[in-house]
Amino acid sequence: MGPCSRILFHGKKMGSFNFISAAKFDHLFSKIPSNLGQHRNFLKDPDGVLGFRQVKNSNLGPNCVQESRVLVGLICRGLGSVRFNSTSVESRVNENSFERIYVQGGLNVKPLVDVIDKDENLVGRDEESRVAFEVEGKKDVGVSVNFDEGEVVVSSGRVETEAEKEAWKLLREAVVSYCGSPVGTLAANDPGEKLPLNYDQVFIRDFVPSALAFLLKGEGEIVRNFLLHTLQLQSWEKTVDCYSPGQGLMPASFKVRTVPLDENKYEEVLDPDFGESAIGRVAPVDSGLWWIILLRAYGKITGDYALQERVHVQTGIKLILNLCLSDGFDMFPSLLVTDGSCMIDRRMGIHGHPLEIQSLFYSALRCSREMLTLDDGSKNLVRAINNRLSALSFHIREYYWVDIKKINEIYRYKTEEYSTTATNKFNIYPEQIPNWLMDWIPEEGGYLIGNLQPAHMDFRFFTLGNLWSIVSSLGTPKQNNSILNMIDAKWDDLVGHMPMKICYPALEFEEWRIITGSDPKNTPWSYHNGGSWPTLLWQFTLACIKMGRTELAWKAVDLAEKKLPADHWPEYYDTRNGKFVGKQSRLYQTWTIAGFLTSKMLLENQERASLLFWDEDYELLDICVCGLSNSGRKRCSRFAARSQILV
Ligand code: GLC
Repeated sequence: MGPCSRILFHGKKMGSFNFISAAKFDHLFSKIPSNLGQHRNFLKDPDGVLGFRQVKNSNLGPNCVQESRVLVGLICRGLGSVRFNSTSVESRVNENSFERIYVQGGLNVKPLVDVIDKDENLVGRDEESRVAFEVEGKKDVGVSVNFDEGEVVVSSGRVETEAEKEAWKLLREAVVSYCGSPVGTLAANDPGEKLPLNYDQVFIRDFVPSALAFLLKGEGEIVRNFLLHTLQLQSWEKTVDCYSPGQGLMPASFKVRTVPLDENKYEEVLDPDFGESAIGRVAPVDSGLWWIILLRAYGKITGDYALQERVHVQTGIKLILNLCLSDGFDMFPSLLVTDGSCMIDRRMGIHGHPLEIQSLFYSALRCSREMLTLDDGSKNLVRAINNRLSALSFHIREYYWVDIKKINEIYRYKTEEYSTTATNKFNIYPEQIPNWLMDWIPEEGGYLIGNLQPAHMDFRFFTLGNLWSIVSSLGTPKQNNSILNMIDAKWDDLVGHMPMKICYPALEFEEWRIITGSDPKNTPWSYHNGGSWPTLLWQFTLACIKMGRTELAWKAVDLAEKKLPADHWPEYYDTRNGKFVGKQSRLYQTWTIAGFLTSKMLLENQERASLLFWDEDYELLDICVCGLSNSGRKRCSRFAARSQILV
């Protein structure tokens, strides 16, 4: 290994370097509060490794070691350079003037262990932890248990069905503990599975429906632990071949590992995967967005807003936003990502600006705007969020929307238009409209396409992106309604035997070969390539509740309830109508189980469900920062555009 060799730090692989000058090192070092060195866990060793030491936390159990946040990293010896991991996060959004997050709020942030230590109600107390909490002034009873007869009466007064009973049992069995406290759920918990791959990990995105199920049942502890522990992992040193992705990235998943010590002792360590072990080394862009969304949901449902107000939690939000809002080469307000950066975490031709990422990004921005503590340090960030929300919603509503009328427009597009006033801005060749779409698009309804790039529209229907656009009001109220109309009209294709298709239609033949790279797992109508994913049920349910279409949600839930227990709660289904349990589908997949439970609870607690979605924000529609609207010479393209789509 060369001078930049990886080193082991408390059993963790660390490495990768971002060189700064010795002068900057001194300058930054001088900003470390003088009393920090006296902190019992602060480490500044002669090798230049600075940070918080691993600390034993006796409250968490005798053998529990929690790796605490590494504040500043490695001196790269021989090169006289140093990496400062989290000393200062400078954002370059527009005017380069967001807070320097760690200098102001981070270097003296306590290691999370200390923070968790002091929290009441956090350390595992299995039975008492199932406490009911107040929801907006109303006592939420969650469930009441009739121990004599073994029956559980849900809050709406009916007895829990067999499927629900089994689902709760399985969900609880999937709970992962760390130092005696619940911190998440396994992706899948199939006792018959010999090769768990990484399904024995806690995935950030997969945990969301589990979290909602627990929250809706009145059990906030696991969610709170999850949020705090994953926050701690956010600043972990991570590398792929000595290159570090941006600070603020949340892992795709984590695992609790038991590491042997001397004399028959062991310790538990949280081991995150930021994509460095994931198949294809995909970047989990959606993890941070889901984390923000869940943080807001936790506050809304439990009423515990203190968590999101904590300094280090605020810092966590800002780090994620800094990553998302930093300037790049983009021409669009949508987020530019690589293939496989979300629920579809394999090559599926969704690189660029996939809808799923855009709708989660939009939701996360809306959540952050609600949760950020307003002060001098955050006001530029909030301004940037508002500008981005406005530009993003315009972009998606105007350019991603298709219905029969719009397709006809594209069909008649002129091409090679050079000017700022072009109608066919992205130079889409009409020949790109696929044959299936011409036949398929109904008279009523429409949807947001999967992706938009120069000269490229991906016309596939991606379910999660469309549903989450409804939930977050990324689409207009009319568009949101139309999406559900289309799902209704195309029920057999999009729901069929099992809600719901991850995308429609499948890539087949030459397209499959070229776009997926001949992926044998993503064969036509299987897995990510047109497979049916029961976990999408909860997002569908939420969207239906928001739009007042609960009959559709009930229809889907009934279908799922009949099949899922009999099929052992599969991860996905295959074939054009979702008839067969997927070729390589895991059984006892946790987000299938939790998605089903959450859907039922949302339908029976619609007031609570309303805490999880957003209405149209009319003020956002008026924001335009391009500065052209008032100048006589050029017209702002947004105002010149078909503005009827905005309402
Ligand atoms: C698959 C899915 C991904 C999920 C993971 C764990 O890779 O594509 O979305 O998070 O399995 O269930």
